[in-house]
Amino acid sequence: MSSEYAILQLGDEKVELPIQIGTEGNRVIDIAKLYGETGYITLDDAFANTGATTSAITYIDGEKGILRYRGYPIEEIAERCEITETAYLLIYGELPTAEQLETFRTNIRAHKLLHEGMKTIFAGFPPDAHPMAILSSVVGALAIYCPDSLEPSDPQQCELAIFRMLGKMSTIAAFSFKQSIGRPFIYPQNNLTYCQNFLRMMFAVPSEEYEMDPDFVSALNLLLVLHADHGQNCSTSTVRMVGSSTVNLFSSVSAGICALWGAFHGGANEACINMLEGIHADNDNLGKHIDRAKDPNDNYRLMGFGHRVYKNYDPRATIIKETCHKLLEKNNLKNPIFEIALELEEVALSDSYFIERKLYPNVDFYSGIIYNLMGIPKQMFTVIFALGRLPGWIAHWREMHLAPGGMRIHRPRQLYTGSTERKFVPLIKR
Ligand code: ACO
Repeated sequence: MSSEYAILQLGDEKVELPIQIGTEGNRVIDIAKLYGETGYITLDDAFANTGATTSAITYIDGEKGILRYRGYPIEEIAERCEITETAYLLIYGELPTAEQLETFRTNIRAHKLLHEGMKTIFAGFPPDAHPMAILSSVVGALAIYCPDSLEPSDPQQCELAIFRMLGKMSTIAAFSFKQSIGRPFIYPQNNLTYCQNFLRMMFAVPSEEYEMDPDFVSALNLLLVLHADHGQNCSTSTVRMVGSSTVNLFSSVSAGICALWGAFHGGANEACINMLEGIHADNDNLGKHIDRAKDPNDNYRLMGFGHRVYKNYDPRATIIKETCHKLLEKNNLKNPIFEIALELEEVALSDSYFIERKLYPNVDFYSGIIYNLMGIPKQMFTVIFALGRLPGWIAHWREMHLAPGGMRIHRPRQLYTGSTERKFVPLIKR
């Protein structure tokens, strides 16, 4: 804690508010005691300027376009780390030794299978159920099937819940896809890596050998790693918020999945491909769509564009865009949707509307192009985002529970703007 203070003048009264300084030099005004000392709360619509917690997991400098996991630049992690190694780093704070990593992977593999009874849950969903709805429901149901790992204050139960969550979610994700296309579930195989296993569970059929394209395995790994954590975003804040009531990890993650689904958050990848395909179907009429996005009377937005924190190019979008180029070149492919995305970016980034508002492509702008190339259907895009974000959700849930001084329930306040006290009118007189 620094010895600096900010002075808040409230009428004749001066209030000293402590300033806390982060390891990267960021300064924040600590208002935790403001209400108790003055009766004032602060108002910050949509938490645009509110730090809800301290955290040592991910550093983001939105002005400079910097993202680091536990201090390591995202570019380096993306190039050199496999998703389970990234998960270990995020959850436990350090890169694992070879032995630690092998034990971690073994523990995850040991929990990939689902209770056979859970298959009846999938069977009850209608064929057109969105896989995100299936994912959140079945992850929530893990709390029923894993009653011995629900207690957040028991470190052993927590570890077991973490391995179960990491092991089972990719199986649930793949089963949700198989359910939606009416194909048999493919069980995980423990001799495969995390990404190989997922692709096999998604695309193999029992009647044929499944051959995997190593480029797709690497691309999937890259996308999972790039999505693995991003500070106090909407879904991670949801996981923390729900978890702060001391509910178990499965229920907290299930809530995070629901928060991720919306088009302003993880659902933007599906919405973005729909938008790009819509522009293509509309004779590639970019101008019309840019004009709509700029029109204050039209709700239309460029999906995959803009970010609450990044006021510069999202470093994850840079890496994904490069990977799109590489994959397309290697396979000698031309992809009209990618061409439209590139052109749309160029037009938008030279338009004063987007320049003034500092709106750049975000992680969701190009990711759908890669999923498309891999043969992953649109409805699964956000499911894969959820798989990628899972280590981050777990890391934040765990960090919150291990916080020195203990965890408090998250409970924002409000400025009440409704009716003042009024007299009740009986039904007969209304
Ligand atoms: N297209 C057109 N205009 C936009 C866009 C966009 N994609 N994003 C923001 N704006 C405009 C707003 O209309 C607003 O304009 P105004 O000042 O004239 O009213 C201004 O930019 C600021 O926008 P806000 O909505 O206040 O920005 P906020 O930080 O609340 O929202 C968000 C961020 C939700 C990401 C927004 O940029 C958006 O809707 N983008 C499209 C959806 C998307 O790609 N979401 C994924 C984000 S990344 C992730 O969650 C994984």
